[in-house]
Amino acid sequence: MNPTTLAENGIAAGTADGDRATASGVPAGGAVDATADTAADGTVGNDIVTEDGTWSFHRGVAPTFVDHVRRSVPLYDAGHELVAEISSCFVRPGGVAYELGSSTGQLLRQVATASPRNRSATWIGVEHVSEMVDQARAHCAGVENIVLVQSDISAMDYRSCDFVTAYLTLDFLDPEPRIRTLRRVAQALRPGGAMFVYEKVLAPDSRTQNLISMLHHRFKRQHGLTAEEILNKADSLAGVMQPLTAGEYRDLLLECGFSSVVPVLRYLCFEGFLALR
Ligand SMILES: C[S@@+](CC[C@H](N)C(=O)[O-])C[C@H]1O[C@@H](n2cnc3c(N)ncnc32)[C@H](O)[C@@H]1O
Repeated sequence: MNPTTLAENGIAAGTADGDRATASGVPAGGAVDATADTAADGTVGNDIVTEDGTWSFHRGVAPTFVDHVRRSVPLYDAGHELVAEISSCFVRPGGVAYELGSSTGQLLRQVATASPRNRSATWIGVEHVSEMVDQARAHCAGVENIVLVQSDISAMDYRSCDFVTAYLTLDFLDPEPRIRTLRRVAQALRPGGAMFVYEKVLAPDSRTQNLISMLHHRFKRQHGLTAEEILNKADSLAGVMQPLTAGEYRDLLLECGFSSVVPVLRYLCFEGFLALR
């Protein structure tokens, strides 16, 4: 299958069967280009260029982040609406809630202004990339119940709180800090409080993983990313993003102190869990 056909099928060349093709790859005739990088530097879409073939939220991602994630993640906006609805069932009047990994403040502003009860609470957005925090400050300007904190979510002290969301954030933490974060969150949540987690998840078997991965790449193609950009992004995320299966996420949340974990949202390889304290 040549790269054009792969692209027409929405498949990032090489990700379905181990082949690699140009943009970083296989010239006509099928001879392998030995000079092709294993992790290609380059554009991943939305004017975002990786350095050393490695994904980072630093270095100029913030200005086009929201458009990029909309093209990459199914249900990005629908999930935000669900977080707004769910959070209003847990936040107490005058209470405290967190968004962990708040990036440019897109979700934070929505949840903090979603309902009278949410508006009465303090919403704390935590983010460790300064460019993201700056952009979030601009996006959330004028919303007085929002507090933005530049910090590492695995190393900070949490206030007693009613609701926490981590939306496409936990997969970017190494296993130890991820566990530490979830334990701290579970301890900080009042009994009866809850956490909403939305992350990329792996399928429990390789055949389904291949199929879902291909369909996710088609989703990205249908939303305007090129095969080369999709391949570069997949390369750049290796070792940076560390997804688990849905079952592993459920077990992890239970081990870290949550009493019940219920899937409430799913599209291909993205799943949202409601975890009750
Ligand atoms: C995919 S984005 C989150 C998107 C955002 N929640 C939304 O819905 O628009 C992940 C964010 O988590 C941040 N992040 C990753 N690890 C972090 C950590 N240890 N502490 C704080 N922020 C972190 C990244 O900088 C990035 O902005």
